[in-house]
Amino acid sequence: MLRSMTEEEADSTRTGFLRRFSGLGSRVRSLLAGASCDTAERKQAEDKLRRTHDELEQLIQGGAAQLKAINETLQSQVVQRQRAEQALAEERNLLRGLIDNLPDRIYVRDRQCRYLNDNIAHAQFLGVSTPDSVVGKSAADFMPAAQAEQYEAVDRKIMESNQPLLNIEEVTTRSNGTRRWALTTKMPLHDARGNVVGIVGISRDITQRKETELVLAKQRSQLDALMDNIPDAIYFKDRQSRFTLINRAQADRFGLADPAQAAGKTDFDFFSKEHAQPAFDDEQELIRTGQPVVSKEEKETWPDGHETWVSTTKEPLRDQAGKIIGTFGISRDITAHKKSEDELKFAYAELESNRGKLIEALDNLKKSHEQLKAAQLQLIQAEKLQSVGRLAAGVAHEVKNPLAIIMLGLDYLASELGSKDATTLQVINDTQKALKRADSIVHGLLDFAVPRELDLHDGQINEVVDQSLQLLKHQLEMGHIVVVRELKNDLPMLHLDRVKTQQVFINLFLNAIQAMPNGGTLTIRTYTKHLDPNEARRDAGDRSAEHFRDGEMVVVAEVDDTGTGIPAEALAKVFDPFFTTKPAGQGTGLGLTVTQKIVELHGGSISVCNRPEGGVRITLIFRVRE
Ligand SMILES: Nc1ncnc2c1ncn2[C@@H]1O[C@H](COP(=O)(O)OP(=O)(O)O)[C@@H](O)[C@H]1O
Ligand SMILES: [Mg+2]
Repeated sequence: MLRSMTEEEADSTRTGFLRRFSGLGSRVRSLLAGASCDTAERKQAEDKLRRTHDELEQLIQGGAAQLKAINETLQSQVVQRQRAEQALAEERNLLRGLIDNLPDRIYVRDRQCRYLNDNIAHAQFLGVSTPDSVVGKSAADFMPAAQAEQYEAVDRKIMESNQPLLNIEEVTTRSNGTRRWALTTKMPLHDARGNVVGIVGISRDITQRKETELVLAKQRSQLDALMDNIPDAIYFKDRQSRFTLINRAQADRFGLADPAQAAGKTDFDFFSKEHAQPAFDDEQELIRTGQPVVSKEEKETWPDGHETWVSTTKEPLRDQAGKIIGTFGISRDITAHKKSEDELKFAYAELESNRGKLIEALDNLKKSHEQLKAAQLQLIQAEKLQSVGRLAAGVAHEVKNPLAIIMLGLDYLASELGSKDATTLQVINDTQKALKRADSIVHGLLDFAVPRELDLHDGQINEVVDQSLQLLKHQLEMGHIVVVRELKNDLPMLHLDRVKTQQVFINLFLNAIQAMPNGGTLTIRTYTKHLDPNEARRDAGDRSAEHFRDGEMVVVAEVDDTGTGIPAEALAKVFDPFFTTKPAGQGTGLGLTVTQKIVELHGGSISVCNRPEGGVRITLIFRVRE
């Protein structure tokens, strides 16, 4: 049994055999060529031929054995090769399966950038279903020319430089406009001799990651914009309340040029302890409990002593597992708001305290309003009196002369008739009486209405009083009136119109007599006194009375009676013209009106009141001559 040879051994055996075999041939050919020579030679040749034949025989026999061995070797080699090929095929299938199942795109392109091979992921990327349909085509068959050209430029660069490109980001715009990102590595492809014959590429689709990145970048820039522009302070802190991030507004409040400078610092580095401590305590509590602090008004005190107010909300900051890793917060400056609130409170308190004063002032206002109203009424009243006076004066003036003529006519008729006709005389007499009354009314009206110049002389009031009593002596006696004179001696001289002052006292005495139909007492009192401030101002509302000065010395005359008195509702009206409570024929209602007028013309005043013991007191005050 021949040992099995190695391939090399089999090869050398095979070539050795052929070499020897070809040498034998040439010798046979030279033998045949010399066959036509002489017999000796022929014999020689025949011997040689025989020997050669024997050699040949030997050779053939040995060769056959060798060939058999060779054949066996070859057969075993074929089996080995078949096995190797099978293993190779299995390996290739495995590889293929792996490549096709990879989500990454794998492709091989030749020097002209035509696809030699690729996997399913790549085929699908190009929009076809099987890798085979790609082979022999180029990128431009599947995508816009510009895009394909970009790829091929990269490929050419790799092939020229014979250098791989690792992890480059490629973006592909598809015909439908969508964009795909890939992370690509491309290497030059070599043949057996090391020549560059193309490229091998592997691309991983990172579109999703890229889109997420873009979304994140967008969110980030939005957040950055918010952080940089919002006027509220925003801050993130770790579990130890150290700043990890603050925004622009917070940096400005801290006087930091760059927000990053706050990293690692705490509230204690910026605020006084008065604010930093409670803020720290709040945050530690928040980290312990997870309970947020919402819209808390905080007073911030700063190292230089100034104070600000903020409304603060703080929340726990959690990691993905939900564990609290710090806090974040936002504080809005409400200092201005707080200030105006304080001012408002202060103003309100002041208002409250002023309320009392205001109410008081209001009361005073009300009082003075009422006083003003009263004064206004008095003014209106005085105004009315004046116009009534003017009217009355006009009428009285027109009536006065006809009355005088009628009076003269009656006197003449009476003297003509003598005592002839008693009845006619009686009629004339009655008519004369009525005429006198009418005449006295007309004169009263004129006295009241016509502001005549007073005929003033130095005089004693007591004298005028006595003269007036004298004139009314008869009436007083008839009325059973007791007259009491309490006239002070040595009164100062007054500036008087005697006739008019007499008229004053007569009017007053007549009223007293009429008020005491069953008799009574008439007391006339005169004295001097110094006016106290209240009395001096008493007539302030009276336009026509001259005001007395405080402490001024005056002469007072009081006329008291023990008559009926004046009912309260009539008291205010007694000075009104034509106000009378007496039956027609007895009163004209002009007595007190004229009296008041005369007193005021003298610069004095008149007032009326009911005496507590009954009856009326009229008080006259006269200025003393200077
Ligand atoms: N001494 C008095 N006692 C009571 N009433 C008086 C007294 N003096 C005046 N009067 C009242 O004042 C009114 C007005 O008086 P006066 O002006 O003199 O007009 P007359 O006497 O014509 O009525 C009288 O009608 C009377 O009611
Ligand atoms: Mg009278």
